[in-house]
Amino acid sequence: MKNPVVYALVACALSLANAHGQDTGSATSVTNIGLKDAFAAKFLIGTAGDVPRGYSEAEVANIKANYNIITPENCMKPQSVHPSEDVFTWATPDALVKWCQDNNIKVWGHTLCWHAQTPGWFFQGTNGQPVTRELAMARLKSHILAEVGHYKGRVYGWDVVNEAIDDRNGGQTENLRNDSWFRAIGPDFLTLAFKWAHEADPDALLFYNDYNIDSDTNLDRGNPQYTGKHASSMLLLKRLLQEGAPINGVGIQGHWHLYTSISDVEKAITDYESLGLKVSISELDVTATGENSGAFPTRGGGGPVSPEALQQQAKVYAQLFDVFDRHAKTMSRVTLWGISDRRSWRSGQRPLLFDAQLQPKPALQAVLDVGAGKGMAH
Ligand code: G3I
Repeated sequence: MKNPVVYALVACALSLANAHGQDTGSATSVTNIGLKDAFAAKFLIGTAGDVPRGYSEAEVANIKANYNIITPENCMKPQSVHPSEDVFTWATPDALVKWCQDNNIKVWGHTLCWHAQTPGWFFQGTNGQPVTRELAMARLKSHILAEVGHYKGRVYGWDVVNEAIDDRNGGQTENLRNDSWFRAIGPDFLTLAFKWAHEADPDALLFYNDYNIDSDTNLDRGNPQYTGKHASSMLLLKRLLQEGAPINGVGIQGHWHLYTSISDVEKAITDYESLGLKVSISELDVTATGENSGAFPTRGGGGPVSPEALQQQAKVYAQLFDVFDRHAKTMSRVTLWGISDRRSWRSGQRPLLFDAQLQPKPALQAVLDVGAGKGMAH
């Protein structure tokens, strides 16, 4: 069954059959082809999840119908794959990669070097001392060579370094987070990580990935002091390029909300293009309710969402995809962070294109309309 229209209809039928009976008032009729087909000539459309284990038949059909690249949501992170120095746990990510290969879906590796979800052994020195720079470098190198090497030729690209820029007081400097990698190795840990990833798989695309780097102001309605992150990202990326880091692009995570500045997003994409970098939207979701907080969990939300909020969410999604569409030349991928509001890391804020029962939301049709050339007027 290779026809995408058939896939979409089957996905919809299976979703209906699988509905849990709770009416959110958000369902809309499906008059669509799959998302990936709507943007086939432009960029890849992805989702996140540790597929296929635990996914229902309806969810699997939905994934096959709509996405042509998957980011493992958790199972390729250092904590999952490399829990102690001599132990690698490949079973879950191996199953994901095989499933994707069997279904002609690409895999985006996430993530090799991050301050979170990284086990403490990386930073333990000998005799209770802090880890030395040399030992930390050796461990990071061996982790990257092992993981990228294990998936060589099977993973399309990697988030090599994730979220290295701090949230506050940025703009004048790179404002690197004072995290374990920074403290152990210094600011060159990023360039080194890119070089080791390239060494392990010269054909894989290598990206820097972060949240809130699309704006310098008003990033977070609850935390207005989070400023300057876009300017810091430009300083950091310029340095990486100067140092010869084999970096192909930058992932703007895209954990957004109803009041996200679309013009800031477009400016950020344009700025990254000016550096000769590819861009992806790597973890897209747009909250329909509650405060937004970049990469942090829900504050607020969880209650009913009004039809007006869902319409506003649809409008924001359409405006965003309209921007991505106009920058399709440098946009390599747009990945939604999850398949449905039930699967979302901030499910209480209903941020995705399919609702908790896997039913299409108004935002889905709005995005498909952009793909069909019926975008927003400017
Ligand atoms: O696997 C354990 C399970 O064994 C245990 O029973 C359960 C109990 O809480 O926890 C499970 O682990 C959870 C894991 O997700 C898998 O579901 C962790 O507690 C939970 O913290 C973890 O959250 C993930 C989060 O990253 C961790 O930082 C989210 O699913 C994932 O969506 C989120 O993704 C991040 C990106 O990697 C980077 N950018 C921001 C984005 C959102 O925070």
